Amino acid sequence: MHLSHVGISKLCFLLSLALCAFVLLLIPTFQAPPRQGDRPPPAPRPQPRPHAKLPGARQGQLPPDGAHPNKTGQRVTLGTSPQTLGRGTAAKLRPLPGDAPVPAVAPAGQRRFSLGSHSRDPLELKDIFIAIKTTKKYHKTRLELLFQTWVSQAKEQTFIFTDGEDKELRKKTGLNLINTNCSAAHTRQALCCKMSVEYDKFIESQKKWFCHVDDDNYVILPSLLRLLSSYSHTQDVYLGRPSLDHPIEAAERVKSDGSVSVKFWFATGGAGFCISRGLALKMSPWASLGNFITTAEKIRLPDDCTIGYIIEALLEVSMTHTHLFHSHLENLQRLPSNSVLDQVTLSYGGFENRRNVVSVGGVFSLAQDPSRFKTIHCLLYPETEWCPKKSHP
Ligand SMILES: *[C@@H]1O[C@H](CO)[C@@H](O)[C@H](O)[C@H]1NC(C)=O
Ligand SMILES: *[C@@H]1O[C@H](CO)[C@@H](O)[C@H](O)[C@H]1NC(C)=O
Repeated sequence: MHLSHVGISKLCFLLSLALCAFVLLLIPTFQAPPRQGDRPPPAPRPQPRPHAKLPGARQGQLPPDGAHPNKTGQRVTLGTSPQTLGRGTAAKLRPLPGDAPVPAVAPAGQRRFSLGSHSRDPLELKDIFIAIKTTKKYHKTRLELLFQTWVSQAKEQTFIFTDGEDKELRKKTGLNLINTNCSAAHTRQALCCKMSVEYDKFIESQKKWFCHVDDDNYVILPSLLRLLSSYSHTQDVYLGRPSLDHPIEAAERVKSDGSVSVKFWFATGGAGFCISRGLALKMSPWASLGNFITTAEKIRLPDDCTIGYIIEALLEVSMTHTHLFHSHLENLQRLPSNSVLDQVTLSYGGFENRRNVVSVGGVFSLAQDPSRFKTIHCLLYPETEWCPKKSHP
């Protein structure tokens, strides 16, 4: 009796041990599968960056057909350039999530990869979210011109961010008109408020690329598509025109108390810039749901600088410099006539120089088309009904 009782206890003990072992083996099976949602950001596919920034290098022209500077498939720099980092952050370099080292690709793999990037998932216009920042004062003048020209070719994916209701414009744009309820003043706070809404709407849209432009920009859509096609939206890509020839320096008030300064490049907002979805998702802690305004207030810089600050200084991702984007702040007449249609964005005028326009002749006179946007549009889309028909002698 006593012996068999001990035997049963032993048996029970062994059985529970076996059960424990079994449960332990099963644990990995029961773990929740990784979330498919937006956050945390998906790890970008390890893919070489075609245009990793080389410090001091001028990057404007596209390499032929997906070519990139380093054929071995190595990233050249990723936010670790000493030029782009201040003293405060240099010591804190750390890998970012998804910023895995890119394995060297064998020549055969390289070839397969290059083919794949073209056939797998060709980028389409509908994959791009284009945000136009405007203000009520310019609905009739500047926006009208954009609707007549390039926006007519990209109605679905172009969103207007403004500061006042406009029934007429609403009829034309429907849900693509977003009243940010931000102030109409041209102040840092009002501009950051609009950028904050643009960011949130882009994240909501599920599109692959975020491109911001101003209401005095012409977007050459085929060039934009060609430029973005040479990058992957899952990688960290921030494309734009540096507004200065050196990085800006600001007191670091987000990661530290402001006693150290940080240097970073930023893309000038007036020329437009684009951000990949992969990178935009990583910006979320400092950009989403009003955090953008908080970040901008901390560093006391305008909206486009704040974007550069979040990407270069906080996320340690280098901006890709391109000279295909243009603002009214540069001398647009200097752009060679034969390269105008290869640019990504154009602009016109400026506060003090109304004659600062790109030099494209023909189609319309300067009096008929002071901005040259109608002329450019007719050169790109000659079938447009209001474009003069080519005379056949
Ligand atoms: C490309 O990357 C490899 C491996 O890091 C390096 O040895 C080589 O010098 C790089 N080539 C260029 C042109 O940067
Ligand atoms: C602006 O205010 C209107 C009216 O209250 C609201 O419907 C709209 O969603 C607001 N816009 C944003 C971007 O929050």
